[in-house]
Amino acid sequence: MKLALPALSLALAASVAAQFYNESAAFQLVLISDDPSVNGDTLSACHSGAAIEALCLSNSNTTSKPDPIPAASFHFNFSDSVVTPNETLGQPGILTYWLQTSTTPIPSAVELYSDPTTNTAIPLFYPGADRATTMAFDENDMLNIQGYINYSTSPPTAGNTTAYYRWWACRIYYIGYTYEALVWVEGPGEPETPRCAKVGVKRVFI
Ligand SMILES: *[C@@H]1O[C@H](CO)[C@@H](O)[C@H](O)[C@H]1NC(C)=O
Ligand SMILES: *[C@@H]1O[C@H](CO)[C@@H](O)[C@H](O)[C@H]1NC(C)=O
Ligand SMILES: *[C@@H]1O[C@H](CO)[C@@H](O)[C@H](O)[C@H]1NC(C)=O
Ligand SMILES: *[C@@H]1O[C@H](CO)[C@@H](O)[C@H](O)[C@H]1NC(C)=O
Ligand SMILES: *[C@@H]1O[C@H](CO)[C@@H](O)[C@H](O)[C@H]1NC(C)=O
Ligand SMILES: *[C@@H]1O[C@H](CO)[C@@H](O)[C@H](O)[C@H]1NC(C)=O
Repeated sequence: MKLALPALSLALAASVAAQFYNESAAFQLVLISDDPSVNGDTLSACHSGAAIEALCLSNSNTTSKPDPIPAASFHFNFSDSVVTPNETLGQPGILTYWLQTSTTPIPSAVELYSDPTTNTAIPLFYPGADRATTMAFDENDMLNIQGYINYSTSPPTAGNTTAYYRWWACRIYYIGYTYEALVWVEGPGEPETPRCAKVGVKRVFI
């Protein structure tokens, strides 16, 4: 049964992320970019604290990750009971990853970690899905985050569900770890950190 969520409920969906129980087949995430140094690279899961992983570039070379590592297998958890505002832009869900441990794998989901002193947020996998960020893959399998509020008007105007693709590959610093990883720019500008590359993030089923 479809829950009668209004179309303007993506923000709400983020707070009920725990209900995304349907798990897609496994896929890799591939970067599409005009910058040849990152175009075609894949994303891996890079240790960034206890059971926390950044989405680092598989072939990047940084202090915390000097060597190439294999692409990770990700999943998309969705729900039949959450309304899709726009099929073209994609069904809402969360990006998930099974963190392998010496015992039971830990189900993990991406949450955007933001620092109020800059304009980039770092997507990080954390255990569970309580605070996961709702995302979608559009009809071309490109990863987006959707919103229905237009902040470029005053007051902001609601009602036009739009997909944003504000992904960049940047050098990141997170509690001592340095990686070249996927970041999200908050707002329409460019990252404050120099020498980032604009990227699209494409899902390719394994
Ligand atoms: C994703 O869905 C699978 C299948 O229901 C579930 O086992 C797993 O815990 C979910 N992952 C997260 C992070 O919620
Ligand atoms: C989602 O999960 C529910 C409950 O397990 C199942 O009935 C339904 O068929 C699944 N939907 C899809 C699209 O796999
Ligand atoms: C990574 O960069 C360091 C410093 O520039 C270099 O010495 C090393 O050979 C590089 N590693 C690889 C695998 O390219
Ligand atoms: C879905 O989004 C696309 C791209 O923004 C737009 O062209 C289309 O009109 C939207 N469809 C609906 C039903 O709003
Ligand atoms: C936001 O509003 C501006 C000014 O009216 C308009 O040009 C733009 O297309 C709107 N964007 C969206 C995503 O609705
Ligand atoms: C809705 O958003 C789309 C894509 O950003 C934009 O092209 C369109 O003009 C917007 N429509 C309205 C009514 O603001």
